[in-house]
Amino acid sequence: MPWTRKHLVDIESLSAEEIVTVLDTARAFKAVGERAIKKVPALRGKTVVNLFVEPSTRTRISFELAEQRLSADVINFSAEGSSFKKGETLKDTALNLQALNADFIVIRHSASGAPHFLSRVLSASVINAGDGAHEHPTQALLDAFTIREQKGKIEGLNVTILGDILYSRVARSNIWALTKLGAKVTLCGPSTLVPRVFEQMGCRVTYNVEEAIREADIIHLLRIQHERQRKTMFASINEYTTLFGLNKARLAKTKPDALIMHPGPINRGVEIDSDIADGDRSLILDQVTNGLAVRMAVLFLVNGGGEIGGKAECRMQNEEVPSQSV
Ligand code: CP
Repeated sequence: MPWTRKHLVDIESLSAEEIVTVLDTARAFKAVGERAIKKVPALRGKTVVNLFVEPSTRTRISFELAEQRLSADVINFSAEGSSFKKGETLKDTALNLQALNADFIVIRHSASGAPHFLSRVLSASVINAGDGAHEHPTQALLDAFTIREQKGKIEGLNVTILGDILYSRVARSNIWALTKLGAKVTLCGPSTLVPRVFEQMGCRVTYNVEEAIREADIIHLLRIQHERQRKTMFASINEYTTLFGLNKARLAKTKPDALIMHPGPINRGVEIDSDIADGDRSLILDQVTNGLAVRMAVLFLVNGGGEIGGKAECRMQNEEVPSQSV
């Protein structure tokens, strides 16, 4: 399916076919990343500004590397040390970046809707790198890519998302992506952080962690988003860990091929035991690796796609995949 979007601001508005287009394109870019020469000229002459107004490690660095691999000129903007501190608005900041011929703005912001707002006022392409508790579309795309790579499919899988769903943009984007792709999504966590209203997004909600993980093919853990919670949503971290943390005893009651995911940053000993985070069923670092290919694919597609030269061999763990020209 051809990609026609200029912006990537959410998963909610994407069709299943558009999501699959990103995943297929990312598969080709992952193969490019395994070549001796990893750089391609797709964004040569284009300028990308990474406008991060909230902290980030994985998303910021993998966008920056993706842009460099695509041969773009890259500018990293951080709120600290900028004229945000003098009261300049987001709109004026973005218009100034555009006046410097920015072709793409990759934005992370604490305000839900900030990328959508910029996409309406700028002629540059806008990519959402996480907006408040709303969406984190490239995280969901890299998560879907990782699941498909490991399991060979997404349709029909049981995916349990465990933790702070209410304040999680990762949860919302994953719910949209996984349900569109045919997975059966279960949400679990303290009732204050997993309101039943999420059932309206096509998920099952349960507050019994053992039941939530028993039949799961994928257990996707989320950290407690203290920075967004406006009041205490559970008694204590210790209580959360006791009731919902993934430990050895709980892992022993899951399917032997159930795999563990987490978008990071992880809180070792809170939502996940260290042994599990570092264990052979953990996909946490595979997710980070795949983020690079997915972000290259997104930038490539919003730039209009096309042929960028070279043949890439693409293989998934459990699937024969034909080669794709990228
Ligand atoms: N997963 C994620 O968004 O991590 P960062 O906040 O470090 O970018």
